[in-house]
Amino acid sequence: MAELIWLEKYSVGVEALDQQHQTIIGLINELNAEDRTGHTPDAVNRILDQLAGYVTSHFRTEEDYMERFDYEDIEAHLEEHVQYIETIARLTEEQIEDRDNVHGELIAFLNHWWTDHILEADQKYTKTFNIHGLH
Ligand SMILES: [Fe+2]
Repeated sequence: MAELIWLEKYSVGVEALDQQHQTIIGLINELNAEDRTGHTPDAVNRILDQLAGYVTSHFRTEEDYMERFDYEDIEAHLEEHVQYIETIARLTEEQIEDRDNVHGELIAFLNHWWTDHILEADQKYTKTFNIHGLH
């Protein structure tokens, strides 16, 4: 995969969350680089572990704000987070059986999911978060 570049159009209007998204994109780019250079499974797994830990706390941050601000689209948003976690779990499990094929699928999923999710689901909460003083 080509390198992902964080652009202003990905901003959700909250600096701390933009920074978290940039960190996530940075980790995905580490995976993209591994992918281009003929990845070693150990390096890929180390980055995937790091990403999983980081994403767990990132989702928790967003979800805490949504609850606190009584965000109207919380149900749909939580569902997207759940779907993400389930897809990663499935692809990681399949990787144990057929690691080379699944790595590619996993990396492609990550690249697409994050840009789509930020541009659609995440940017919907900007107005609510901003109204509550979060910038
Ligand atoms: Fe989100």
